Amino acid sequence: MTSSSPSGPRPRGAGPAVRRDDALALLTAEFDGGPGVWRSAPAGGVCVADPEVARAVLGNRHGVVADTSDFYHHRDGVFGPRAAQVAIGRAARLLIQRHLREHRADLPRLVAELLAPRSEWPDAGNRLVLRHLRDVLLHPDAPPHLHTTVEAIVSRAVLAGARGRHSAPSRLLFRRRALAALHAEIRTRQRAARTDGRRSGPRDLMDVVVGGGGPAADPRELVEVYLSFVFATAGSIGFALGWSVHLLATHPGRACAPPSWIVREALRLWPVAWLFARTPSRAQELGGVRVTPQDRLMVCSYLVHRHPGHWERPDEFVPERWAEAVPDAAYLPFGHGPHTCAGATVTVRLLEDVVGILTRDWRVSSAPSATPDGAGPQVGPALAPPRFTVTLSRPDGCPERR
Ligand code: HEM
Repeated sequence: MTSSSPSGPRPRGAGPAVRRDDALALLTAEFDGGPGVWRSAPAGGVCVADPEVARAVLGNRHGVVADTSDFYHHRDGVFGPRAAQVAIGRAARLLIQRHLREHRADLPRLVAELLAPRSEWPDAGNRLVLRHLRDVLLHPDAPPHLHTTVEAIVSRAVLAGARGRHSAPSRLLFRRRALAALHAEIRTRQRAARTDGRRSGPRDLMDVVVGGGGPAADPRELVEVYLSFVFATAGSIGFALGWSVHLLATHPGRACAPPSWIVREALRLWPVAWLFARTPSRAQELGGVRVTPQDRLMVCSYLVHRHPGHWERPDEFVPERWAEAVPDAAYLPFGHGPHTCAGATVTVRLLEDVVGILTRDWRVSSAPSATPDGAGPQVGPALAPPRFTVTLSRPDGCPERR
């Protein structure tokens, strides 16, 4: 629980050895004009920017890598078995899907309340998603101190740059307390599941994790899986919303493009999950580079999404490109293959709904933040937008959408 991360999970130590904030610039500079797979000493592994190789690695049809995604990693290994991973992913998606369906009408009010007339981003995006999905993370009757804990986890560990806002001892103390509170609740729910038998259905994502893990699951591992969901929802969806809003605000002429194009294009230019770690299963050649199980593979979706051989004007925000069939092979915002994100459809739905409201009911304009780090992305395990301020004014927006 140290910072936000790509697919929702936290940093696992499997990423590049270089400093995170340099990693994106480093890989971009190394790739520039070179081959799509290369060994990078400063990044500490073999980098993949070639779309076909990226899909071969993530798709893993020929068993080229050890079969795992980042989501279920924990401090001591990987939560499993695979059947439990799949069951948890599916149950989580269904729960979120139902919540979004039942609470869609709340969104315009939430946007007005939390974002107008001015809001500070990217935190505003994380907080809006947290508010909207609060009952999914913890059902309303869960103990109040747990609600406080989850809110504090988001403030202190999920928001971009959260780490720098607290001293190391304070972070350590908070981490211990938060993990202990989640652990106690998960044990309570495991005991209840043993004595009460099956409930009618999960009330929140903690029930999903406890139910999917089964009675014998190690509660410490379940805490980590639960935290992956906190990071995936409040973290990753919040950052993805931040990128859509940032692009809208900096390209006002594009605000009338369909929300689905805006969201897809934002996820192309700024994939929140920008780097996937994998380990080769055996010695083999990948894209012309000899790799062994001692190597660390780093699939960089950010570079795949801007590959000049697959995209026209790759660095430009062009929502209209989504009006036609696009090179699907070079688009991996939610991964690819057996470990493709279980929350992709619900994420896109929520993003499109919020972007739809913003472009229909408001005029979105922005100013860079006064802070010196306001210009470029905030690079961590997840790719978060820079700090910026958004002003919402109305009546404006796109008349044809009303
Ligand atoms: C913008 C939001 C999100 C992004 C960009 C994202 C991205 C990803 C990516 C790239 C992966 C694959 C990781 C890998 O192959 O190593 C993944 C896996 C996963 N994601 Fe998401 N995710 C998001 C939101 C969510 C949400 C809301 C959920 C809640 C259901 C979720 C649940 C999962 C699960 C369970 C997996 C593991 C799949 C498996 O290994 O079977 N994600 N996500």
